[in-house]
Amino acid sequence: MQTFHIRTFGCQMNEADSQEIREMLLSLGLTETENWENADLVLVNTCSVRKKAEEKAFSFIGETRAWREADSGRRLAVMGCIAARDPDGIRRRFEFVDAIIPGKDLDAMKKSVRDILPEDLALLPHLSGYPASNHGSSPVVGMVSVIRGCNNACSFCIVPYVRGREVSVPPEKVVDRVARLVEGGSAEIYLLGQSILDYGKEWTPPFLLEDLLAKVASEVPGLRRLRFITSHPKDVTRRLVEAVRDIPLVAPYFHIPFQSGSDKILERMRRDITVQQYYETVDLIRSTIPSASISTDIIVGFPGETDEDFEGTMEVVERVRFDGAFVFKYSPREHTLARLKWGDPVPPTVKSQRFIRLYNRVKDIVFEKNREKVGTIGEVLVEGARDGMLYGRLADYRMTHFRGPPEWIGQLIPVRIESAQNWSLRAVALSEHTSINFSEARPGNHQEVIAS
Ligand code: SAH
Ligand code: SF4
Ligand code: F3S
Repeated sequence: MQTFHIRTFGCQMNEADSQEIREMLLSLGLTETENWENADLVLVNTCSVRKKAEEKAFSFIGETRAWREADSGRRLAVMGCIAARDPDGIRRRFEFVDAIIPGKDLDAMKKSVRDILPEDLALLPHLSGYPASNHGSSPVVGMVSVIRGCNNACSFCIVPYVRGREVSVPPEKVVDRVARLVEGGSAEIYLLGQSILDYGKEWTPPFLLEDLLAKVASEVPGLRRLRFITSHPKDVTRRLVEAVRDIPLVAPYFHIPFQSGSDKILERMRRDITVQQYYETVDLIRSTIPSASISTDIIVGFPGETDEDFEGTMEVVERVRFDGAFVFKYSPREHTLARLKWGDPVPPTVKSQRFIRLYNRVKDIVFEKNREKVGTIGEVLVEGARDGMLYGRLADYRMTHFRGPPEWIGQLIPVRIESAQNWSLRAVALSEHTSINFSEARPGNHQEVIAS
């Protein structure tokens, strides 16, 4: 067995797990291949959050049948959230799968992957920590899960079932992981958790996310920018927002899903927050960090959502004017309270109409807000090059395209915004001769850099 391929679906936490398993396989001497059909080992990391997400994974697993059956030495594993939701279903439908590996516990996942390797590889002593060589290079934006699982009980959501109860990763381990990624070439790190503001609450004394941000920012040389996702709006505190304001490396960006603009629906969703309290959270963020950008997730067509409830959602979008938003149609999930109690009564056509109206309004507002950025300057962390253009994100998470040499990949480049598109910006790189001295600006501090 020489080559492997990992196909990742779902959220950034899955990406983070895939990256750790990738590093383990590389350190065992395997080579990664872009083309799964050339691989000896294929790992599919799956998502269960909506039916569509599952269907994508199922369709890929189906495609691998002929490949797996053509050679008995090949191995195929299904990992992640479908593996936790329905292992028996996978076994029945795809009997050629060699292993089904739920995504609750990363160490257990690594062990299960090693168990399907041929003996000569699997018997290598268990790797503790991260070997200094042969682990490949890290992505420009590195993902680090700092809290696994979710203790909330949103009635629509399968995550607590497939990921289990919350377990925070000790701060020293987080720092080690971030440092390793930065040594491997990552410039920006996303700290991840389904409910990341619960980080460290289980310890006495607690060591909260704001403490972790300060620790990582001060202890990892070479790190250029730090972000965290996802924040439940009910848990946003003044202390956290002030930490984001005061720690220069932390990007002034908050992803705070509101899901619905109706108190009745929020109650049914078990979100433990009212629309008014959501507005207060937004106000706290904006009054503390005027340049902060705020994005969100919204569900339309939740059971019992009337036209009036939906108008409440439209109103939140109008009032908050998000910098970005993901809109979803409600999808009933196994093992969730909402499905059990209410099924899926909103007709598909109504869901689609609401979806289109909301999506279009969100898109227009994001475009208007993007247009307001034209003429401002900021720093883009260049993630890659495509079609002759570099691309990357500003501190406020806006995707930005501009011309420049590929050597800039992985660097923070000062730019001036030239034009706006629906979901991204076009910019030009500023030369060293501009009037603003970027070397004096603290890296990643959007407030200082936006000074046109
Ligand atoms: N932990 C994050 C979100 C996890 S899932 C949070 O608390 O916000 C990402 C998004 O998917 C959710 O915010 C929600 O908007 C959407 N989602 C989750 N379950 C869904 C379902 N059953 N149907 C439709 N959308 C769903
Ligand atoms: Fe799901 Fe709610 Fe937990 Fe987010 S906070 S993962 S929506 S249960
Ligand atoms: Fe999907 Fe699992 Fe993430 S259900 S959203 S991959 S935690």
